[in-house]
Amino acid sequence: MILTQVVSLLLVSSAVAAPSQALLGSSGPRPLVIWHGLGDTAHSKGMDQFADYVRDEFPGIFVHAIVAPNEGSPRDEQKAGWWGIGEELSQGGCDQIKDIPELADGFDAIGFSQGGLFLRWYAQYCDGPRIKNLITFGTPHFGIAALIPCPDPPTLTCTLAARAAKAGIYTRWAQSHLIQAQYYRDPARMQEFLEQNTFLRDLNGEGGVDQGGGSGREDGGRGLGGLENVVAIAFRDDTTVVPGLSAHWATMDPDNSSHIIPLEEQELYSGDFIGLKRLDKRGGLHRPFCPGEHMDLGGEGGCGDRLVRKWVGWPL
Ligand SMILES: *[C@@H]1O[C@H](CO)[C@@H](O)[C@H](O)[C@H]1NC(C)=O
Repeated sequence: MILTQVVSLLLVSSAVAAPSQALLGSSGPRPLVIWHGLGDTAHSKGMDQFADYVRDEFPGIFVHAIVAPNEGSPRDEQKAGWWGIGEELSQGGCDQIKDIPELADGFDAIGFSQGGLFLRWYAQYCDGPRIKNLITFGTPHFGIAALIPCPDPPTLTCTLAARAAKAGIYTRWAQSHLIQAQYYRDPARMQEFLEQNTFLRDLNGEGGVDQGGGSGREDGGRGLGGLENVVAIAFRDDTTVVPGLSAHWATMDPDNSSHIIPLEEQELYSGDFIGLKRLDKRGGLHRPFCPGEHMDLGGEGGCGDRLVRKWVGWPL
């Protein structure tokens, strides 16, 4: 009897609290934006389950899963993961977010795999509300030195994209049609990358590097130094992203592919092209690991859930 009353009291008080918090615009959990990975869609079963987990964990939280391209069907979304222009897809996300009143005071964002690159574009170039904590799972922040393997069995979209990419990853055509080409960064072919690539090159502020040793800083937009936290998660046994530690801004040594060069030894860091060093020095750059293969979040109570509980749902 007493228990029932307590429960109903709790229900009543939370029902009253929710709208008044929304009116005051304070103290509710920060809204969350999620950007899905390659081959996935905003409302796939897995993505909906993830959003539901977040809603259960932080009652009252507003969660928005980015539909990319804007207003695209699930089929359009799957295709857009392979084919298109990274900047355009990101600009679509920027427009989408600006139209959502619940996000107007800022939000946290989670990017799954390549979705994290589009969220970075948002953070660095979009004139919409600001991201506070940016959390990326297995995002190839410093590019890939090999193509992402096709799923088994391979889809036609993937097979065609892989074939086209192999024909010339740094051709003007590939750079304006194939998403993976736009974050393909082979350290052994830097000159071509710096000349032909725009999307990843500029996200990492390397745009000025080929113009006679510029700092690179001029093309990185706002950079990431102004965010509260960047939590870049790598998967220990990642064989999908090459090298897997690209998720921590590491690259492969062009002369020795088993030697991985960490962020601290990169000019991107020492020259602070996009504010990562500044962010790191004030304790805002975090590079945790999850065990397992690319995007293995570890199920219920696993690594993914733990990181979400740690970095999401803070008061606005
Ligand atoms: C390549 O890098 C690995 C890992 O750092 C190292 O153990 C190995 O000695 C290197 N090989 C050469 C030929 O330098």
